[in-house]
Amino acid sequence: MSEQVLEKDLVSAVGHDIQDTIDTPIDLEATFRESHVQEILDRLDQELVGLQAVKNKIKEMAALLLVDRVRKSLGLTAGAPTLHMTFLGNPGMGKTTVAMRMAEILHRLGYIRKENVMLVTRDDLVGQGIGQTAPKTREVLNNAMGGVLLVDEAYTLFRPDNPGDFGLEAIEILMQVMENQRDDLVVILAGYKQQMEHFFHSNPGMNSRIGLHIEFNDYSVDNLMVIAQSILVSQHYHFSRDAEKAFREYLIRRKAMPHFANARSVRNAIDRARLRQANRLLNIRDRQVTRDDLMTIEAADILASRVFRDGVPDCEAES
Ligand SMILES: Nc1ncnc2c1ncn2[C@@H]1O[C@H](COP(=O)(O)OP(=O)(O)O)[C@@H](O)[C@H]1O
Ligand SMILES: [Mg+2]
Repeated sequence: MSEQVLEKDLVSAVGHDIQDTIDTPIDLEATFRESHVQEILDRLDQELVGLQAVKNKIKEMAALLLVDRVRKSLGLTAGAPTLHMTFLGNPGMGKTTVAMRMAEILHRLGYIRKENVMLVTRDDLVGQGIGQTAPKTREVLNNAMGGVLLVDEAYTLFRPDNPGDFGLEAIEILMQVMENQRDDLVVILAGYKQQMEHFFHSNPGMNSRIGLHIEFNDYSVDNLMVIAQSILVSQHYHFSRDAEKAFREYLIRRKAMPHFANARSVRNAIDRARLRQANRLLNIRDRQVTRDDLMTIEAADILASRVFRDGVPDCEAES
């Protein structure tokens, strides 16, 4: 239904009846403006620091989808674009965030009925015993239908070392639905680059159903600093000059340790620094606390981390 509404919108945006438009130039820019997709792209730009290559790809995809819609409204049919995607990259890179914006774009352009992203992992799809996986996977797919299904760490569905693994059943069903109901469900498979490449190599049928591969390359320390600053600003905090230096040093060390999760680790580190700051402030006895005190993260709030004291992350479970 949303498809019809959009086509009507597009035709009215173009300002002509379909029959009359065959040789009439089309104001694509106006059509793009009226789709309000730019607002979503802008929001993505604000939400996520860096990731220029990812943002460019999303923009290109949006352009393709818009042009496809305009062409279709003029009777220029082509195969429907393959909308299933894969997001390759380490944890905390913004993959889930991008998936949510992508769903909004697909919805605005009338490719899906609802802009929901259903987030699942292997455990949501695969059962423990014989006969459990198919109904489990089907139920998830039914609930996701009309929107986007994001399978996180999708490579875990394939366990070649365990030939009887039920993950294969989930893969089979997923592939069928990706083929047969491609006009009503967009599947995004996310996960570590290497593991996902191995997954696609072993499951070529899956690979051939994917229209867009997007790589999320790890953030540099400079990028992570910008992410930290933007998180702080949004929370009405800032680093003192020494704290900024300490945090940079923290990132350099933390990045080299296990379970580093990019922007998510930055967010967690800032949460812990806030905790230490609060305790430090409560221990000030000789004076009253100022507004600036309440806003400032000092070097001490960073340097108390186990990363500096013991050379290990504060929270081993962080992923
Ligand atoms: N480039 C970025 N700039 C600012 N915040 C980011 C960036 N990338 C990720 N984040 C934040 O990090 C957290 C994890 O992001 P998420 O989209 O869940 O990553 P992933 O799905 O790759 O693990 C979220 O709070 C998100 O807002
Ligand atoms: Mg995620």
